[in-house]
Amino acid sequence: MCGIFGYTGAQNAVREVIAGLRALEYRGSDSAGVARISPEGALIVQKCAGRLDALEQALAAGGDVSSRCALGHTRWATHGAPTDANAHPHGTPRVQIVHNGIIENSAALRRRCLADGYVFASETDTEAAAFVIDRYYRILGDPILALRHAAAELRGSYAFGVLFADFPDRLFALRHESPLLIGRRREGNCVASDLAALGEGERRYHPLEQGEIACVTPDDVLFYPPDDGAPYHKDVLVAAETAAPIDKGGYPHHMRKEIADEPQALRDTLFPRIRDGLPDFSADGLDLDRLLASPRVWFVACGTACHAARLGASSFARLAGIDARAEVASEFRSACPMPDARDTVIAVSQSGETADTLAALRAARESGARTVAVVNTKGSAIARAADCAVCTEAGVEVAVPGTKTFVAQVALLRLLACALGRRAGRIGDDEAARLCRELSELPDRLTRLFDREEEIVALSRRFHRTCSGFTFFIGRGEDSIIAAESALKLKEIAYVPSESYPAGELKHGSIALIERGTPVVAVCSVPSQREKMLSSLREVASRGASVLTFAACDPDGALRAASEAVFCAADDPAPLTDPLLVAAALQLFAYHVARQKECEIDRPRNLAKSVTVE
Ligand code: G6P
Repeated sequence: MCGIFGYTGAQNAVREVIAGLRALEYRGSDSAGVARISPEGALIVQKCAGRLDALEQALAAGGDVSSRCALGHTRWATHGAPTDANAHPHGTPRVQIVHNGIIENSAALRRRCLADGYVFASETDTEAAAFVIDRYYRILGDPILALRHAAAELRGSYAFGVLFADFPDRLFALRHESPLLIGRRREGNCVASDLAALGEGERRYHPLEQGEIACVTPDDVLFYPPDDGAPYHKDVLVAAETAAPIDKGGYPHHMRKEIADEPQALRDTLFPRIRDGLPDFSADGLDLDRLLASPRVWFVACGTACHAARLGASSFARLAGIDARAEVASEFRSACPMPDARDTVIAVSQSGETADTLAALRAARESGARTVAVVNTKGSAIARAADCAVCTEAGVEVAVPGTKTFVAQVALLRLLACALGRRAGRIGDDEAARLCRELSELPDRLTRLFDREEEIVALSRRFHRTCSGFTFFIGRGEDSIIAAESALKLKEIAYVPSESYPAGELKHGSIALIERGTPVVAVCSVPSQREKMLSSLREVASRGASVLTFAACDPDGALRAASEAVFCAADDPAPLTDPLLVAAALQLFAYHVARQKECEIDRPRNLAKSVTVE
């Protein structure tokens, strides 16, 4: 994936680039680099492994870096280890490029460039693309022609920012599949991977379309079509929304702050969609009848959003009787049968930029299915690609582990399922109103849960002290999905090897791994699964497992009797929302385990917030 930011204008370009990259570090921070045109017109590159801070220090140590045109990159490694040499930009004294994406035919291009006499300094796919551009520029002497010819030879996905030494105040940009936009500033213009990099306040921009090439000067932006058509100007779009200040709100980590944001995220997402106590999606432009008429509804998503999607599919089936299923987006195109023109495909994504989810959505469109996006980022690629976009209003989420967006996605999909069930005549108005009330009460219930954080801290300390290694997460029904999400949290931020299993499936193999002291985290929020969960707990406890149960409640103390410790997240049972309450308690649990282990919680190793490569 990676983040791209370039600036040309009256300001100090390197400083602008560093500020832009700072907002893009969530896309990867394995290395960073910047190319600039010196006052003498030479292309100067500085890059190093590690986070942006390392590059900033190197730049500071290098003395004067004044320039009016610069191009930077923050990397999430795909081809080649995160080393200085593999950091972007790549190129020659004539041309330097930064890249987001994967060039799939890079091995063949590399062979050809070697035959042409190019000497590779890195293991990246990007360097081959840079040399192809350089070669065409050398032959044709025109940057647009060089980029067009090079693009015709590249396979895969790319967003490129390009600097030519011969055009010292111009940035060039082109893309295929990977996102890129041109930002318009009062003083100068920029090239950026996404809106977040354009700063706070009103942001003026042009999205770059597939195959389009942009030539960006300090006061103008000219676009060129992929073929040899004439250049043109485009209207400026305005993203009116002011980016919320990205601070930690007094908490030690973004993740903890974002968990604390959950009640407000729910209010902002749900309340505008509840009118007179009943669900109302009219402002979203969603055609509920079309959804209900779909023989099948498919959810596609990745990571945490996929767990929200699985819970969404479960709500659609239970409340609205819809044949709904959730598929990991990267596997969707292997699904058999694929959806047809009568089906609906719903893509769920926090960022709205995840390449696998976007590709699945596009495949669904090609098969004729109607598409809906559930995203947290208005105007994102997935929102634009779908027939209809419904937005969660969780605000910017900075920490790599998704928390508030997960809760908002699940609650939104529950409310939508309720609206569909009512429309289908499966739920009466009284029941719909009751479910809406339950959802409306969730923010306050979460606040009360967070007041008990110390109890969760104590459990996390105990877990950290006694955890002997591989941790099982088990649950039944929707709780098996909460178990999957909670295991993901623990492994991604606390690096504790953890896997989830449907509790009933354990005895068919995986229980062989349970021995004295094996940690088992049991999730039990669904009352109808309680009896069977108790049996599962006894099965593992009798084999020596150390069982920690996260439940909604435990009225008769049976869960306590079958576990070493129990945390009950709910005061009064509320079946529609209890799984979310328990999920939030487990988010806090993972967070505090990671704190005991002094992990880098907001930016875990090897991960990025938004993955824009397939
Ligand atoms: C990455 C992130 C995950 C996230 C997933 C899907 O893998 O590390 O935290 O759940 O992408 O992201 P999306 O933006 O589509 O929800």
